[in-house]
Amino acid sequence: MVVKILGISCSPRNNSNSKSMLEHAMTEASKNCGDGVECDIIDLRDYKIEHCNGCGICGKTTITGEYIDCLINDEAESILKMMENADGFVISTPVKLSMPSDLFTKFMNRTRILKNQDFKLANKPVGVMSVSRRRSGGGELAIMQVWMPFIRHGCLIVGGGGKVSSHGAVGWASSRNHVLSDDLGLEEAVNTVMRVIEVASLLKHKDPPADIRHEFCYRSGGRIS
Ligand SMILES: Cc1cc2nc3c(=O)[nH]c(=O)nc-3n(C[C@H](O)[C@H](O)[C@H](O)COP(=O)(O)O)c2cc1C
Repeated sequence: MVVKILGISCSPRNNSNSKSMLEHAMTEASKNCGDGVECDIIDLRDYKIEHCNGCGICGKTTITGEYIDCLINDEAESILKMMENADGFVISTPVKLSMPSDLFTKFMNRTRILKNQDFKLANKPVGVMSVSRRRSGGGELAIMQVWMPFIRHGCLIVGGGGKVSSHGAVGWASSRNHVLSDDLGLEEAVNTVMRVIEVASLLKHKDPPADIRHEFCYRSGGRIS
């Protein structure tokens, strides 16, 4: 049973620090694992992704009970399929005014359909890395903002678990690929990927007893009249 980890790079620029750090960490972490682990990376900037228009169709069903597809026809759907097939995620984002990238936010809004259609991402672990130009430029704050939509999805947030990475990884870099000389940031990044692999493997090989399964309902708590 292969454990599949999907890395998602969220910088709008090419040869980004976010992607370099993610690639380095996925490659190094893979060396610690056997054939049972598969790591893939996608770069959001390579995909045509439109904004969610808030039409609210996702989660609605036809009269015969089938879910209705997202009305936007672009390349987001192929990423959603990859997410459904993955056992865990590693997100890598630049820090933008102490926030994750707008590309990340734009894409995450499009993942709402996976939540509204039976919480397809529930129980998958997520680790996050960010890259900022300043030592204290909002790196951990950006990481925590990335956590939030995944918590809505019912995902399981993990940190780094190693000596240096409580909340994930914060790279310290400015120009393209500069992060590859930030040894501490790279160490945190490898720890974060390893932790995602570890938790994804644990979950893949163990099923909880049927009577303790939790029922997700995306409608609960919403105002309907
Ligand atoms: C619009 C914008 C906002 C930024 N905001 C911050 C910030 O709040 N804190 C910080 O330390 N660096 C900030 N930076 C610097 C980037 O985080 C830094 O250059 C990072 O290495 C970019 O990563 P990337 O190559 O993956 O895009 C900002 C850069 C831009 C273009």
